[in-house]
Amino acid sequence: MKRILELTEDGSHTLYLPEMDEHFHSIHGAVQESMHVFINNGLNQCTQDEIHLLEVGFGTGLNALLTLLHREEKNIHYYSLEKYPLTGEEYSQLNYAQNYSTDIQAHFLQMHHGAWGKPIEIVPGFELTKLNCDLRTVDLSGLPAFDLVYFDAFAPGKQADMWTDAIFQKISQQCKPGSIITTYCAKGDIRRSLQENGFAMQRLPGPPGKREMLYGEKDH
Ligand SMILES: C[S@@+](CC[C@H](N)C(=O)[O-])C[C@H]1O[C@@H](n2cnc3c(N)ncnc32)[C@H](O)[C@@H]1O
Repeated sequence: MKRILELTEDGSHTLYLPEMDEHFHSIHGAVQESMHVFINNGLNQCTQDEIHLLEVGFGTGLNALLTLLHREEKNIHYYSLEKYPLTGEEYSQLNYAQNYSTDIQAHFLQMHHGAWGKPIEIVPGFELTKLNCDLRTVDLSGLPAFDLVYFDAFAPGKQADMWTDAIFQKISQQCKPGSIITTYCAKGDIRRSLQENGFAMQRLPGPPGKREMLYGEKDH
């Protein structure tokens, strides 16, 4: 699958998939979007000291890096699912860590070249487990119960089979009461499906260039 490196409007990179005519992030700003949707409206809404986090789509590792940078005192167990991992040539070109210290740059590379299928301690208090699997068929029941879900699949219009009732049911069953799910998508049918699968959903203002996004809390 061909993926082309592009710059978004905030100067951060994204990847473009010509085959699907889809970007990994908002073209108005990849870092800006991830900060808004996943960090400010996800991570920063969690009050626990210890967080088990599930990400759908590891991709460029941007959300993992931002979570490492913004976790403050929280202990993070970050589980990320990815069917099509980036190649070394692709991830080594990404500019997300370039304005940070050499330590952070090394942690970002370590996130990518670390092994799949087992926990890696990136720094004390941040453990990453990347799972090379297909969300549609993976059994999540062997994983810990989650406090936070970053749902970052390609858009429903491009990959509808990542946004089904069956998938939301599978994720919901693995989430703790009161856990948070956040996604850049604001579609009504996705909101209803998440609602029917146990999340009290809200529409929040979206990142620049996008009117709304979805945020939910699992019912108690
Ligand atoms: C919108 S991108 C976002 C990725 C990542 N969060 C980032 O910031 O770069 C969606 C990701 O889902 C992955 N993906 C596509 N189909 C998948 C599947 N069936 N199971 C798991 N991951 C999948 C893609 O390869 C891609 O990395």
